[in-house]
Amino acid sequence: MKPVPNLMVIFGASGDLTRRKLIPALFRLYQRDLFHPLSFVIGCARSKISDEDFRNSLKEFIPEADTETVNSFLAKIFYLAGDYDDSSTYQKLEKKIAELEQKTGLDALNRTFYLSTPAALYPNIVPKLGEHGLTAENYQGTPWRHVVLEKPFGYDFESAMVLDRMLHKTLQERQIYRIDHYLGKETVQNILMLRFANIIFEPIWNSNYIDHVQITAAESIGVENRAGYYDHSGLLRDMFQNHMLAMLSLVAMEAPAAFDANSLRDEQLKLIQSIRHFPQDELDKYIIRAQYEPSDSVPGYRQEPGIAPDSVTETYVAAKIMIDNWRWQGVPFYMRSGKRLRRKVSEIAITFKRVPHSIFPQLRPSDLEPDTLVLNVQPEEGMTLSIQAKQPGPKLCMGSLSLNFSYANVFGTNIPDAYERLLLDCMLGDQTLFIRSDIIAASWRLFTPVLEAWQIDKNSLLSYKSGSDGPEEANNLFGKSNFFWRSLQA
Ligand code: BG6
Repeated sequence: MKPVPNLMVIFGASGDLTRRKLIPALFRLYQRDLFHPLSFVIGCARSKISDEDFRNSLKEFIPEADTETVNSFLAKIFYLAGDYDDSSTYQKLEKKIAELEQKTGLDALNRTFYLSTPAALYPNIVPKLGEHGLTAENYQGTPWRHVVLEKPFGYDFESAMVLDRMLHKTLQERQIYRIDHYLGKETVQNILMLRFANIIFEPIWNSNYIDHVQITAAESIGVENRAGYYDHSGLLRDMFQNHMLAMLSLVAMEAPAAFDANSLRDEQLKLIQSIRHFPQDELDKYIIRAQYEPSDSVPGYRQEPGIAPDSVTETYVAAKIMIDNWRWQGVPFYMRSGKRLRRKVSEIAITFKRVPHSIFPQLRPSDLEPDTLVLNVQPEEGMTLSIQAKQPGPKLCMGSLSLNFSYANVFGTNIPDAYERLLLDCMLGDQTLFIRSDIIAASWRLFTPVLEAWQIDKNSLLSYKSGSDGPEEANNLFGKSNFFWRSLQA
């Protein structure tokens, strides 16, 4: 399916996200003939620069291609300078849109408003779009007007509800596209294909056969130049409440009746609502937080530019999550995410139960490694199934054997970026991979009490050395199970 002619207005056009993600993604869609020839982009930000200056500022971020293609793509991009809370900005925008519509000879272009600004500016922009009639749709939703929002979707349950009410004053839920870029990753979507396009996994995808699941999103980078945002947010809000829960929900949810936006999101919601709330009286048995300390080569979190020297913001969270439903009773889902860890790796590792009895002399069931299926989300996208097998030799030699599937080997290295997929879906009006408001509410309901407890108990903040696998204490989440976190070593 190809998008119809449409217009994308990007607020926050001079920001990093626009340059590093949105423009390159739109360019790749253009190269793949998925950006309609009658489509346009208007970048909007405060600095007073010309269309030409804006286009030039984007050039270095556009993937390598011949000059003609780059220039013809850039010719579709315009710039509008203005303050987000000034009505005249929206009047100028109306005028600019009318000009472009006239150029196409179409009555009205479909529109996406991409809010690539700090979330604090959403209440300035969205009502103004509404007041100026820029987001008005007829009852059938044609021509469509979509509004794309980046996280954070609130700071806690209360603020998320306030944000939601504000959005719904101007927009209908069908117009709101809340991005979680993890859902745009090929390998994350592949979880659905693996589970629901094959029969062999379903019979064993439950507490009868699975011992536990480990979900990791580790990064080697630190807070970089995002101190202002990050020190206020912390890892739980930045990664857990959204990306980590998104991965968990796809791994653990029931099969939706169809692969459409509401069927899929209904199942995700049901799953998140089945997560057991963290017990306040023994919180540290279920969820812990930590902050990175300096190593020989990098500063600690508190020494990073822009971070308060006494900051208690967490840069690492590990949790043991229990899901109270038939399928997952008793199966812990261990999840961890952190900055400045040993290396960048996101993966979902499913560890199966050990055999109930060993028929091999001298080998107890506990001597046989449990089978493990690892879904490698990044950077080495693929899948690995580790099983026990005989090693060559006259004696009974047993060892682990890995069956590897690598995306790069099979499909080449040109894996589309998450934003490419998500921008395309937005232009096609497909909300399947965007988050619905009730899912946001359910996830905040789960994590807000944790944030409140941490706010009171500052001593709950642990530490770990930059470049390590995280704090030692994270292994305590496994209790007496004899399992530990998988090593982050490559
Ligand atoms: C973003 C977070 O949503 O995801 C960042 O705000 C984090 O802090 C990033 O670095 C990780 O994304 P990816 O795709 O590099 O794993």
